[in-house]
Amino acid sequence: MPIYLDHSATTPLDPRVLNAMLPYFTEHFGNSLAVHSYGREPERAIEDARATVARLLNCRPHEVIFTSGGSESDNLALRGPAQLARIKNRPFTLITGPLEHKAIAQTARQLRDTLGAVLRIVNVDHFGRIDPGDLRAALTNLPADGVALVSLMLVNNEIGTVYPVAEYTAIAHEYGALVHTDAVQAPGHFPLDVAAMGADMLALSSHKFYGPKGMGVLVLREGVPFLSSLTGAKHEDYRRAGTHNTPGIVGTAAALELACAEFDTHVAHLSALRERLVQGVLDRVPDCELTGDPAVRHPGLASFVFKNVESNTLLMHLDQHGIAASSGSACKVGNPQPSAILTALGYGPEWTRGGLRLSLGRATTDAEIDTVLDVLPGVVETVRQLHWIAAD
Ligand SMILES: Cc1ncc(COP(=O)(O)O)c(C=O)c1O
Repeated sequence: MPIYLDHSATTPLDPRVLNAMLPYFTEHFGNSLAVHSYGREPERAIEDARATVARLLNCRPHEVIFTSGGSESDNLALRGPAQLARIKNRPFTLITGPLEHKAIAQTARQLRDTLGAVLRIVNVDHFGRIDPGDLRAALTNLPADGVALVSLMLVNNEIGTVYPVAEYTAIAHEYGALVHTDAVQAPGHFPLDVAAMGADMLALSSHKFYGPKGMGVLVLREGVPFLSSLTGAKHEDYRRAGTHNTPGIVGTAAALELACAEFDTHVAHLSALRERLVQGVLDRVPDCELTGDPAVRHPGLASFVFKNVESNTLLMHLDQHGIAASSGSACKVGNPQPSAILTALGYGPEWTRGGLRLSLGRATTDAEIDTVLDVLPGVVETVRQLHWIAAD
């Protein structure tokens, strides 16, 4: 069996979650909006799932919108206020960071190009952190009659840096700005309390916490100005149209329930393995750095950068040794581009193609970490030699 160290990309469906979902594929297949009896059990299950998610996130059931995943939740969160501002002829300013997932970054660019949104990008330091003072500076001199939205993630998916979203929210609210947070990498790794965080919107993706793929959650706090960009029938109280994915919704609630119930054990397991992995790699591989915040980071995410290494080649060699990892940045085979994230962190050209992300999960073992520590130094050495041959 290959060693799977790409849990930040996706996790396997927990068999307990699958069991909870199964009856809603077969026996209870009805449309939740149906007037007849077939709709009753799906409708009940969906509203139970909504209540469960709301309880676990500390918000109200009506504030939970089920979506098709993290990308959709992020899209709805950015587009909703932007389109409403546009209809009301009010200038829209979007304040975000350079390390956000493409679901935020590309949507932001499209809103700039199509609706004339003004983008303000807050700088990060070498560890990917955002200084609250820089956020404050980005919030000054906003148009008086405008709408401003701050979108900053809770946990970075490539380098594992964790952001003090509650602090950012307090600052943003001082300036009258709304706040969305992409919390896709958080469940099972960080406690999630929407009320304490204060954010107006929050995105989750079920397949990142051992739930089903193609499912997610957008928390939309009551009173937040929002226009649906997925229109149709009355699903999700007109905020997100489309026949309910009942098994996916039931699976999302079941997976989140497990992530919260097993939180302490999971975090302890991951942190111990990650510490050993990080120390082992830094000790054994020359010209290598840990990326992201060394102290406040995702418990299961170890991300590195190697000098004079091309990450796709590294990933292919690791795959040949039965280790499934990722670079954290998607660069195409044959056309390796410098990673925008590593560039934003201030790495020079000899480093920016050499990212590696090893993301651990529930089933990761000590023996697997040992194998990685045995294999990785030799693989990096081989890939470096190839780099020099290619450069000659
Ligand atoms: C931080 C972050 N946001 C958004 C997404 C997109 O989620 P989904 O795959 O459910 O569309 C991902 C997935 O990689 C992610 O890591």
